[in-house]
Amino acid sequence: MASIKFKNVIKSFDDGKVTVIPDLSFEIKDKEFVVLVGPSGCGKSTTLRMIAGLEDVSGGELYIDDKKVNNIAPKDRDIAMVFQSYALYPHMSVYKNMAFALKLRKMPKKEIDEKVRWAASILNIEPYLDRRPGALSGGQRQRVALGRAMVRNPKVFLLDEPLSNLDAKLRTEMRSQITMLHKRLQTTFVYVTHDQTEAMTMADRIAVMDKGVIRQYDTPQKLYSEPADMFVAGFIGSPRMNFIDCTVIRKGKIFYVEFSGEMMRIPSAKAKNLASYENRRVILGIRPEHITEHTGGEIAEENCVITAKAEIAEMTGGEVNVYFDVGSRRCIARIRTDRKIASGETVRLLFDCNTAHFFDKDTSKAIGTV
Ligand SMILES: Nc1ncnc2c1ncn2[C@@H]1O[C@H](COP(=O)(O)OP(=O)(O)O)[C@@H](O)[C@H]1O
Ligand SMILES: [Mg+2]
Repeated sequence: MASIKFKNVIKSFDDGKVTVIPDLSFEIKDKEFVVLVGPSGCGKSTTLRMIAGLEDVSGGELYIDDKKVNNIAPKDRDIAMVFQSYALYPHMSVYKNMAFALKLRKMPKKEIDEKVRWAASILNIEPYLDRRPGALSGGQRQRVALGRAMVRNPKVFLLDEPLSNLDAKLRTEMRSQITMLHKRLQTTFVYVTHDQTEAMTMADRIAVMDKGVIRQYDTPQKLYSEPADMFVAGFIGSPRMNFIDCTVIRKGKIFYVEFSGEMMRIPSAKAKNLASYENRRVILGIRPEHITEHTGGEIAEENCVITAKAEIAEMTGGEVNVYFDVGSRRCIARIRTDRKIASGETVRLLFDCNTAHFFDKDTSKAIGTV
């Protein structure tokens, strides 16, 4: 059982000269799998290390299970941390690495043995118990590091970019292993990564961080479909969302956005939020996967077709990434097609207005959710 609560937490370094977390408030529920995601240097590891007690909190309050832990030593927090670097003892066998913390706690040998074998069997590392870490692959080492955390039965698992040292295929495999582990252990997991795909595939909830601030804290689905601002919209999703400068125009009762001579109707559900932007510039956001190729036939009212030159067309098997320009903005469409689209070819691209997002140019906040 463990919930975690940040209440106006501040973190500064160098005697308060550098503030990396200005004011952080959020809660992680018991048994939740929460991912902190954001670009390098945004404060993810610092946040995690404060939970672990490896960094002091400079201001505010941090609670674990409603108990204020600002002044509680790491060893008394009942938390286990797994690092990118594995941090295994190189001169000890896998077995001893996993048993070490329990031995320090003077747990009876038989009980230690049961725990180590239980963790090893879940993680499929039983055949390597006698080996030293140096004789294991990266993925096996990372599983040992997970096992070493598991045997301690911690209330909270903290994982800091645990898969970053693994190759792409192994990363995908380990992703699902960690998700399964979470389901099986039924404990709170806080997982740090700069990789939005990891965040999207693993998390119950994701906190998107930027410069020490949580921009949005929500389910993967919500972050994708209702990003709160352009930072989140651009960070979640790959290839990233296209942003196009446009002007809001009204014709009778119907609102449109105009860009590069094209008109796109604003769906009525969104039009009421955009009414106050009439004749002003806003940013239209459209995801590459929401642009399709128009191959003829009537164009529905809620769609908009633009003619563009495919500056670059990349085949990815079943899909083609088409790079095209709208004004001076380079955009990308991810088109599902078997047709070979050539670079330089003129294409007709269909934007589905219902999937469009609109952002305030000054604040970069999503219009309608402000
Ligand atoms: N011990 C420290 N002293 C001074 N600055 C630090 C220290 N640790 C981290 N920082 C700074 O805090 C910011 C956040 O770092 P970090 O939490 O490691 O980011 P992330 O894990 O998101 O990449 C960075 O600008 C980093 O340089
Ligand atoms: Mg980090």
